Amino acid sequence: MRVKYSKLLILALASTLCLVVIYSTLKDGVHPQRDLIEIQSITTDTNRKPTTTKVKPIIKKKSKNDTPLELPPLTISEDFMKYIPKNGAYWNRKLHSLLRQFDVAENQTREDPRHWFQCKPESFELLQTNIQDIQSYPPLYKDFLKGMECRDPPVVIDQPTKCESGNEAEQVFLLFAIKSTFNHFERRQAVRETWGREGSYDNGVQVRTVFLLGRSLQDDPNLDQLISLEAQQFRDLIVWDFEDSFYNLTLKEHVFFKWMLDNCPQASFVFKGDDDVFANTQAILNHLHSLEPAQASSLYTGQIISDAAPLRDQKIKYYVPQTFYEGPYPPYAGGGGFLFSGHLLPYLYHVSFYIPFFPIDDVYTGMCFKALGINPVKHSGFQTFDIREQDRENACVHNDLLLVHQRTPQQTMRLWRNMHSSMLTC
Ligand SMILES: *[C@@H]1O[C@H](CO)[C@@H](O)[C@H](O)[C@H]1NC(C)=O
Ligand SMILES: *[C@@H]1O[C@H](CO)[C@@H](O)[C@H](O)[C@H]1NC(C)=O
Repeated sequence: MRVKYSKLLILALASTLCLVVIYSTLKDGVHPQRDLIEIQSITTDTNRKPTTTKVKPIIKKKSKNDTPLELPPLTISEDFMKYIPKNGAYWNRKLHSLLRQFDVAENQTREDPRHWFQCKPESFELLQTNIQDIQSYPPLYKDFLKGMECRDPPVVIDQPTKCESGNEAEQVFLLFAIKSTFNHFERRQAVRETWGREGSYDNGVQVRTVFLLGRSLQDDPNLDQLISLEAQQFRDLIVWDFEDSFYNLTLKEHVFFKWMLDNCPQASFVFKGDDDVFANTQAILNHLHSLEPAQASSLYTGQIISDAAPLRDQKIKYYVPQTFYEGPYPPYAGGGGFLFSGHLLPYLYHVSFYIPFFPIDDVYTGMCFKALGINPVKHSGFQTFDIREQDRENACVHNDLLLVHQRTPQQTMRLWRNMHSSMLTC
């Protein structure tokens, strides 16, 4: 009896100590300046001595000096300039004013467009002068408008070595860049354990995964500490200092382009998508391998939405006010998941400075590609609006698909297991 009691006591003490240590680690939270983070892990071995594991820093100060990267020469397609009508809507006017600046910058001044964007909130007065009915805009829309010029939020958690390898042959072939938010822990874990698994695939091609996050919203519980631990554990989170809202997804895309150029410029292909999709990594790799060089270098593919136009119903998530944008949307790949060539990144990043932020990120992406003169190519394996109900648990059906939307973490796990089961015959 006595022996059991003391064992219990030791166990209780050990777990309390464990909790205290975890708590004190947590208390430090997300801290960009920190170079080394120590995690104490308590083992309940006989002499109960805590052992210390040194964890490599998640945040490395960039050793590169801060010279801005060179932007490549750019032509903006005539087609795009004509496609977006000149009219009184705020965004249209902003676009055509930037395009005029492009002409001047390209022909004469050689000005760097990055200098045109100073992050100061757009004054409400200025907005009111330019948009007569701004009072009727939904509050979140007004927030979006105020922040439209802010393009350079700091990175709070970075993964600067994600794509590094000493070896030319080991360069990243495919990077999964997954839009996520703080509270989606389970979704991220399902991606890591299934289609987003990093490593070497057929023929030794390298696949890497990053999750793109902003900060939690004001009313959310504070998850900074948990995110910090997750980032240390998996080294696949990139967090920027902006509010992670729907209308800020375009900003997320823009900063991701920048991140790619700084940290992963050699990647051959990028898959950008949501954290609740199911992707068939093998089918994606097969497709990429099947491309002709010319197709590969200008790749922009997914489920293509053509002939779309702004929705004018305030109750819809994709609502766009008439006085904000008027005109058609370019054909674009549904943002649930699409593929594009890493070769295009410098051009995408450059051209995005001539295109005002748009509140719908995949439409914005379509505009950037159109401005580069690239039309998206339809691939029927991308099912961003999902497949027939009766096929959703059918592993065989998924063999031929590249992406389906949307799946719970549990469905993702099950589907992956079934697709890789030796018992599966299709
Ligand atoms: C800049 O050059 C283009 C192409 O040569 C020309 O069409 C355009 O009018 C020029 N713009 C200005 C402002 O000179
Ligand atoms: C986007 O993020 C910025 C910076 O955190 C914030 O001020 C702004 O309100 C956000 N915009 C929206 C539409 O949530």
